[in-house]
Amino acid sequence: MNDLPDMSNEKDSDRDRQDSNSLSIREMNIDDIAPIFHLGEQLFTSELYPYLYRTWDEWEVIGMYNTDSEYCLVAEIDDQLAGFILGTIINKASWKYGYITWLGVNPNFQRRGVADRLVDKIIERMIEDNVRLMLVDTDPANTPAINFFNRKGFGNAREHVFLSLNLAKHEYYGRLINYERDKADRNRPRSRRRT
Ligand SMILES: CC(C)(COP(=O)(O)OP(=O)(O)OC[C@H]1O[C@@H](n2cnc3c(N)ncnc32)[C@H](O)[C@@H]1OP(=O)(O)O)[C@@H](O)C(=O)NCCC(=O)NCCS
Repeated sequence: MNDLPDMSNEKDSDRDRQDSNSLSIREMNIDDIAPIFHLGEQLFTSELYPYLYRTWDEWEVIGMYNTDSEYCLVAEIDDQLAGFILGTIINKASWKYGYITWLGVNPNFQRRGVADRLVDKIIERMIEDNVRLMLVDTDPANTPAINFFNRKGFGNAREHVFLSLNLAKHEYYGRLINYERDKADRNRPRSRRRT
């Protein structure tokens, strides 16, 4: 793969905001799992992006590292974790879609071209792996991400509605709680039974 053209060389003008000597992109390794998870906790908060908050957990990071390590990249600036990207490939008949599942940049390093470099690198890898369409989704209120992806050439946006159902208010949940309560009562020693 070393003789393939490096896409990053073509866009140096876009990156004047960040000294390329101090920003480096590399594959994620096992020691990155916890720092990436904690950076995600800082970024995907319930107040800002409830859906991202609910779906972000340590198993996302561990699982993607396990199944898609070639599309799990980290950005470092001066040996600090500046950002990460976790992607995967969806094979559908003869089509291969590249999907950016998670992207996050440390608030201390935002707007310095970190996400730009991470996305360029994953796109480069996906093109090498015959991907012809990239997909990404985020909360409609996530203006920074939407602006960012528009700027990177992603378009054709479609709104997607997420619905939720509170199961604590479901009739079966009530019956189950009553059943468990009755069972606990039945198993209690006689003298301590409720009247
Ligand atoms: C979206 C995100 C990844 C961008 O990372 P970044 O490293 O700051 O982005 P870059 O510096 O490479 O690109 C900057 C461009 O992104 C857009 N952008 C980034 N932050 C923005 C903000 N706060 N408001 C508006 N646009 C913003 C702009 O187009 C900006 O270009 P400009 O500086 O010329 O205006 C970062 O804000 C982030 O981590 N957000 C929280 C996590 C998240 O939402 N992830 C995406 C969904 S999984």
